[in-house]
Amino acid sequence: MSDSDTFEDDPAEQWPDADTQATLDRAAEFEYHSEDLDFESEHANGAWSIRCHDVVKRLGGIPVLNGLNVAIPDETVTVVLGPSGTGKSVLIKHLIGLMFPDSGDIVVHGQSVPKLTMPELLKMRRKIGVLFQDGALFGSMTVFDNVAFPLRQHTDTPEGKIAQIVRQRLADVGLSDAERFMPSELSGGMRKRAGFARALVMEPDIVIFDEPDSGLDPVRTALLCELIQEMHAANGGTYIVVTHDIASARRIGEYIALLWRGRIVEAGDAEKMFSSENPFVRQFLSGSAEALAGGFASLR
Ligand SMILES: Nc1ncnc2c1ncn2[C@@H]1O[C@H](COP(=O)(O)OP(=O)(O)OP(=O)(O)O)[C@@H](O)[C@H]1O
Ligand SMILES: [Mg+2]
Repeated sequence: MSDSDTFEDDPAEQWPDADTQATLDRAAEFEYHSEDLDFESEHANGAWSIRCHDVVKRLGGIPVLNGLNVAIPDETVTVVLGPSGTGKSVLIKHLIGLMFPDSGDIVVHGQSVPKLTMPELLKMRRKIGVLFQDGALFGSMTVFDNVAFPLRQHTDTPEGKIAQIVRQRLADVGLSDAERFMPSELSGGMRKRAGFARALVMEPDIVIFDEPDSGLDPVRTALLCELIQEMHAANGGTYIVVTHDIASARRIGEYIALLWRGRIVEAGDAEKMFSSENPFVRQFLSGSAEALAGGFASLR
């Protein structure tokens, strides 16, 4: 087994050009989205699972989250789309209480995350599955033990039942034959799928994916997107997929939020976003995936 299916984004791509950058920066001065944002209303599919109000977080003196407002609908696949370095992973850390805002609030299923006590926070995290950017598998444990870990750590489930659940999840992600492998023996795509199986094992209400498509070639990215859709159709819940890849957003996003310089500049149902008149949204969503991946990194 090798890493031969990993895929390096080409840093030589130069996007956005000067005109596009100027448009994006003009858009960033004004948060279009917050005008229509009515936290008290309900999304067409039901309630909002997560609401972020004016979240500010400075890291190293830089406002990484810069007055971020967004609501994530329940029972929906939401894509948070943003170039590299715009604060996507930092946002995820705020949603699960691994980082806390300097000001503003993050409300998950009606609970203010920064106000939770540690036991309350741990309880909340059990209902959230996270697929971290690199899979975050424990290198010294087999795939089976990695996927079993949350159940052993947080529940009293007997080993026989754990084995049943783990094997079901590994079958779901197509890794039935790899349960005895160590993470170092897996390809990049297999590591992501193992991370996905582990994220689902506690039957979470919310599943968060940090760049599930990074480092994968386009074919494996498409397969992983399909898997995310299938698992959402089978299990329901709130799925949040954070990515810089427009193709992935188009493929799986039912609701899309665009992140630029620490703010959600626009968000809405995918259909509305892909036919938006907003120049920022049009510019952003018309860029090619490879160009976005390479070009944005230099902006921050
Ligand atoms: N713990 C930290 N201390 C200081 N700066 C940080 C810290 N974590 C993140 N940053 C900075 O915050 C910014 C946003 O980082 P973040 O990891 O959220 O980006 P991202 O959108 O996830 O990027 P990528 O697409 O490359 O994963 C970056 O400029 C990064 O250097
Ligand atoms: Mg990140």
